[in-house]
Amino acid sequence: MADMPNDFWSGWIVLLTAVSFIGLIWLVLSVYFTPQSETQASDEPVWDGDIREGNTAPPLWWFWLILATMVFSVSYLMLYPGLGSFSGALRWSMGHELQQNKRDYATKFSTISEDIIASSLADLQARPEVMKTAGNLFNQNCAACHGYEAQGQASLFPSLRDDEWQWGDAPEQIETSIRHGRKAVMMSWQTALKDEGVENVSDYILNGLGTSDSASHAGQAQYNLFCMACHGEKGEGNPLIGAPNLINDIWLYGGSMAAISESIAHGRQGEMPAYDTRLDDVQIKILIAWLKK
Ligand code: HEC
Ligand code: HEC
Repeated sequence: MADMPNDFWSGWIVLLTAVSFIGLIWLVLSVYFTPQSETQASDEPVWDGDIREGNTAPPLWWFWLILATMVFSVSYLMLYPGLGSFSGALRWSMGHELQQNKRDYATKFSTISEDIIASSLADLQARPEVMKTAGNLFNQNCAACHGYEAQGQASLFPSLRDDEWQWGDAPEQIETSIRHGRKAVMMSWQTALKDEGVENVSDYILNGLGTSDSASHAGQAQYNLFCMACHGEKGEGNPLIGAPNLINDIWLYGGSMAAISESIAHGRQGEMPAYDTRLDDVQIKILIAWLKK
């Protein structure tokens, strides 16, 4: 209520509430305190010999009940928000309540949090309860893409349990991947290479790159011209831009001739979402420990 668009609507609600309230009081008082007419008009119907129309007030306990609920309503509207943008004498609000709960939570867990932030990854890995929590956290937040036990999925989401870390395997690099997300850009090479070039380079990657007779391979010149800048002279990759290693036989998008040609011809743009607003420092740290275990 405190964020009403403008004072007019707040005033309007106060007015409506006050008018209905006064109306209600008037109605109740009029029922109980209007003098009853004793004389019976002669043309009014009489049933069963002595039953007539009348305006006898309801029993008095009813009056007290209504009075009590009215007193309750007025006190409530004075103490709590409800009357337009008036925030109530107790200044209670759900927002404050939530913040208070968060503060309570933070105090309650601050020692555990500080302890985890201060611990080394090896210490955390040695604590089964921490690893269990991290595993659950992974299942809730990451497994939908990275698969069960981080094994990777669908030739789209990398395994985080193999030896290849496109974006680097140092704890700081993994932290950056999780915190800020990653956006890999490998453009399409179909126009530059044509069908034959795509085939030559794909074959070079599978059968020439990193071997002793790489120099005699038809695809080498094109690889060196178009691909080396990112994937490295020997296909070792570059974690700064997320260019994967092409000679370790670990493939995100598949290692068959067809899958590799597809990667080259049409490009690949894998995207890892950023988690810095969704996970806190403690959660990110235990996830890193869990992934490095
Ligand atoms: C919406 C799907 C999605 C979710 C959810 C997701 N990821 Fe990813 N993640 C990806 C993709 C796609 C990549 C690969 C990006 C690329 O192609 O470079 C990736 C890459 C990574 C990498 C870098 C891997 C490497 O080889 O360097 C790490 C680390 C990672 N994710 C951890 C996590 C963690 C931890 C979570 C949960 C907090 C998570 N991801 C949630 C899609 C996701
Ligand atoms: C601008 C840098 C850049 C250049 C130039 C580049 N790549 Fe890539 N390449 C990448 C990145 C980044 C990825 C990862 C894409 C992803 O994770 O979605 C990638 C992915 C790949 C993959 C898929 C690897 C896998 O694990 O499935 C292949 C194959 C590949 N590149 C081959 C090539 C070839 C061949 C060329 C030259 C014709 C080339 N790339 C040029 C950056 C580059």
